[in-house]
Amino acid sequence: MFFCHSSFSLILILLLLSSSSSTLQIQTHRNHTLHNLHLSSYSQKNIMDRLKSSARLMIVSDLDHTMVDHHDPENTSILRFNALWEAHYRHDSLLVFSTGRSPTLYKQLRKEKPMITPDIAIMSVGTEITYGKLMEPDDGWVQVLNQKWDKDIVIEETSKFPELSRQAETEQRPHKVSFYVKKEKAEQVTEALNKVLKGRGLDVKIIYSGGIDLDILPQGAGKGQALAYLLKKFEAEGKRPVNTLVCGDSGNDAELFSIPGVHGVMVSNAQEELLQWYAANAKNNPKILHASERCAAGIIQAIGHFKLGTNISPRDVSDLTKDIENAHPAHEVVNFNLLLEKWRRAEVENTELFLAGLKAVSHPTGVFIHPSGTEHHIKDHLNILRKVYGDSQGKPLRIWVDDVSASQIGSDTWLLKFDKWELYGEERQGCVVTAVMSTKESNWFTWLHVHQTFLEQSGKQEWMF
Ligand SMILES: *[C@@H]1O[C@H](CO)[C@@H](O)[C@H](O)[C@H]1NC(C)=O
Ligand SMILES: *[C@@H]1O[C@H](CO)[C@@H](O)[C@H](O)[C@H]1NC(C)=O
Repeated sequence: MFFCHSSFSLILILLLLSSSSSTLQIQTHRNHTLHNLHLSSYSQKNIMDRLKSSARLMIVSDLDHTMVDHHDPENTSILRFNALWEAHYRHDSLLVFSTGRSPTLYKQLRKEKPMITPDIAIMSVGTEITYGKLMEPDDGWVQVLNQKWDKDIVIEETSKFPELSRQAETEQRPHKVSFYVKKEKAEQVTEALNKVLKGRGLDVKIIYSGGIDLDILPQGAGKGQALAYLLKKFEAEGKRPVNTLVCGDSGNDAELFSIPGVHGVMVSNAQEELLQWYAANAKNNPKILHASERCAAGIIQAIGHFKLGTNISPRDVSDLTKDIENAHPAHEVVNFNLLLEKWRRAEVENTELFLAGLKAVSHPTGVFIHPSGTEHHIKDHLNILRKVYGDSQGKPLRIWVDDVSASQIGSDTWLLKFDKWELYGEERQGCVVTAVMSTKESNWFTWLHVHQTFLEQSGKQEWMF
């Protein structure tokens, strides 16, 4: 056996100490328990530091009807995007979600859909910026938004407009007051509100979106300004992303497309209000694409269209078993888990050759520690797959990985950490995986050690691998 089980966590910590001192410093400073000592449980500073140089690609995407297709019961396009991002971009790029949703509704969406974790979340129409899994707020942004803003005055003045009906309490935020208003009243109300609030000494921005939502924000807020603020921060660190792709479908996304230098994709299902804005303001901008594909598939299309990097998702590769000479261990993580999904969905042939292929990426003495605590050689454990071939046939099993981080800890050895999720009908189960991979004895990445721990949200479904 390569590692004794109990000494592994110690080795892991030592490896972290030696390979990522900035991570450790921040964690110590913030007094996180060892349990939270994630390779990637980044704080704000850590996000900026995570990449040694500029992000190769920064994607800034709206969620509802852009990243998330509410009319796709199969979740096909978002799963394709997830696999593409984790295999090819996560390690040197940045994913930013920019949504009108408040943190409450954003977290709800994350439970409802198979979404991966962004590096940065911009919520409540650009009024709240948080970093990483822990969603640590950006206090500097709060300072910016406090200028010429007084929520009480906004509430007082808007109460005089019977056309406005207040949205749920969770959607009322420190720097966002939100209503519903009918399309035909929107323009007139906006104009009148602008006038009275100005008269009261405020400088606000009123955004009408989705043909129903009316948001009142500080003038300095909005999806566009939040992005401009982030870009400025990166620039100050000398790390402006090499390429930025903004993605949206509705009125509150328009300002994303106005940021100088960015590429933009309006998904095929974009709303009239955004298309009208485009026709009036950006028609001759070759950096903006109106995709022919819906939602996340439109984002993948745009990555190809603007040549921002590979746009072949591992989910689009017909024979993954021939795809083992990967350039990055994260790619192997994605492929391996996708193969397990295909096996259990009976989407690959039930052959010994297939199992041999999975064994070929496992080190001869590699050890697998199941979340229940049992320990096997990876090769032996793979034999249980014979019993579960097609066990999800006709049922919607989906497997995806999230937040894959890899750090090279030796000339041919990598330490990996990621979350692995299984969605089986409505039931979702997840575990944290820590793994060591090596290229020592072959030209491809082999699994040397895999250690899984259940995430607390886990359901009751039996966990295989
Ligand atoms: C670290 O956090 C624990 C638990 O919240 C607390 O009891 C302890 O005093 C903290 N230590 C420091 C040095 O802040
Ligand atoms: C799509 O995702 C939703 C939410 O996670 C889930 O309830 C549904 O079963 C998924 N559909 C398929 C076919 O996996």
